[in-house]
Amino acid sequence: MTTAPIVRTVEELRRHVRAWKAAGEMVGVVPTMGALHEGHLSLARRARKECERVITTIFVNPKQFNNPDDLKKYPRTEEADAALLATVPVDLIFAPQPEEVYPDGFITTVSVGGVSEPLEGRMRPGHFDGVATVVTKLFGMTMADRGYFGQKDWQQLQVVLRLVRDLNIPVHIVGCETIRETDGLAMSSRNVRLTPEGRAKAHVLYEAIMAAATDIRAGQSDRMAIREAAEAIRAAGFDRVEYIELRDAETLMPSDDPARARRMLAAAWLDGVRLIDNIPV
Ligand code: PAJ
Repeated sequence: MTTAPIVRTVEELRRHVRAWKAAGEMVGVVPTMGALHEGHLSLARRARKECERVITTIFVNPKQFNNPDDLKKYPRTEEADAALLATVPVDLIFAPQPEEVYPDGFITTVSVGGVSEPLEGRMRPGHFDGVATVVTKLFGMTMADRGYFGQKDWQQLQVVLRLVRDLNIPVHIVGCETIRETDGLAMSSRNVRLTPEGRAKAHVLYEAIMAAATDIRAGQSDRMAIREAAEAIRAAGFDRVEYIELRDAETLMPSDDPARARRMLAAAWLDGVRLIDNIPV
């Protein structure tokens, strides 16, 4: 299997994209930070179905890490990633160095209000500014017609949807379903950091929010259902439940209006690893 060309500069990237566009081809982009797994590949496969050309970007974006140690420890597995992408296959891998994305003098931040502020935004200050800035740049660099994002990071997906609307970025955003391990744990590059014991318990996060969603739909109070979910997660041996919230699916504001689409979102710590998940209610 031949791997896709890996390009490092915007100039080279644009050379490919211009040729494709001149031929009238639709271009899809799948932004990632590498350390690819089935979750990422599902986005690339969806793009493969819907677009003539598919670019996967691999860039560990320093601006979205609030902890320098986290950034340093983030897995970098480019060769393995390229081999996985060859199974899709994708047409091009854009894997720039930080200096290509943030050259000397770079001073602009894209900051999405409202939807960026609660939950992950509150726990990880500056994180969504980093995401919004790099995603805006990736759209500008790739000139893609469609962008593929996972529902696994639901709040991020809503931030990106808001961003392209507010800034009139001519890209259609596709939100793709969360891919899970057979026991229900949402796939994540962080899962490998769990101990075998932690990994065996990790599915409880998903099960507990699923049970809460079922109870709420059956008429139980939001507050009671969420409290029971938090207790179940703690009882399973998680170190800490950071939040479990029922929110408006689009604005991420508190919502007790069952007539609007709602989403239950959770973050919890296990083995010193922060796991997040979310489901529709
Ligand atoms: P990363 O964590 O590498 O994720 C890249 C994309 O894969 C995101 O859209 C994410 O939601 C999706 N994804 C991850 N796990 C998934 C799963 N189990 N099922 C479905 N999709 C999944 O998210 C980022 O990188 C960065 O913030 C980025 C958008 C690339 C900007 O730097």
